[in-house]
Amino acid sequence: MKTTIEQIKRMKQRGEKIPMLTAYDYPTAKLLDEAAIPLILVGDSLGMVVLGYDSTVPVTMEDMIHHIKAVVRGTKRALVIGDLPFMSYQVSDDDALRNAGRLLQEGGCQAVKLEGGERNASAVKRMVMSGIPVMGHIGLTPQSVNQLSGFRVQGKTPRGAVQLLNDARALQDAGVFAIVLESIPAHLARVLTSRLDVPTIGIGAGPYCDGQVQVFHDIIGLYDDFVPKHAKRYENMAEAIRTSAVKYMKEVRSGTFPTAKESYGMDETGVIQAITIS
Ligand code: KIV
Repeated sequence: MKTTIEQIKRMKQRGEKIPMLTAYDYPTAKLLDEAAIPLILVGDSLGMVVLGYDSTVPVTMEDMIHHIKAVVRGTKRALVIGDLPFMSYQVSDDDALRNAGRLLQEGGCQAVKLEGGERNASAVKRMVMSGIPVMGHIGLTPQSVNQLSGFRVQGKTPRGAVQLLNDARALQDAGVFAIVLESIPAHLARVLTSRLDVPTIGIGAGPYCDGQVQVFHDIIGLYDDFVPKHAKRYENMAEAIRTSAVKYMKEVRSGTFPTAKESYGMDETGVIQAITIS
């Protein structure tokens, strides 16, 4: 059975931690779904970890819909949340509603996520009133990287911390079902988590959030040139992939791959006779 918004809210009430991971393609979504992850985020981080951009700013609605569709095809149980990309919800609330609707109608996801607090509360309200479940995202909001002068920890000053509390409250009042807290001090995340009725999902926000989200490529160690401080690598897939490619090249070059095991047989005499007389 598909994870529901109601179940996510109840997990906070029961004190049950909520795990969430990103996925951007069919095989990853299928594997995560088989592992019974309740929430999959098709994050616009795909711009950086899949498409090779240096920020999420260039990601388009078409990019998001393309990847959301692939993830949805691989998912039976997990609730799929699609990220609204930069400039798809900032221009007007009408535009925001239309684009959120596209992620559900064309992409097939069950909920959307957008960055920003108070300033986007009216757009969130329109979406929720139209039947679209929304996840908020405050703290380090990567789409604002140029305004923030880089990927920096947020909420470290009294003013910044109070602004985050106001943002979280505005999102909750607008009807979000959960809020991502990205790169904020652990103690501040603890305060926000205790003050909110909706679950908080942390990334670089310490252990006191109601749930945690990580970028899939970080936890499997697909990149070894940069590992964010908040990420834990459970595998070294970069090394595993390079090793497989080197072994494959060696066997092709030496003629030890393919063998009879990887080749197709046939009734040789009949076919050879037919080839000979034709
Ligand atoms: O785009 C993304 O993957 C995200 C998560 C890091 C929360 O927004």
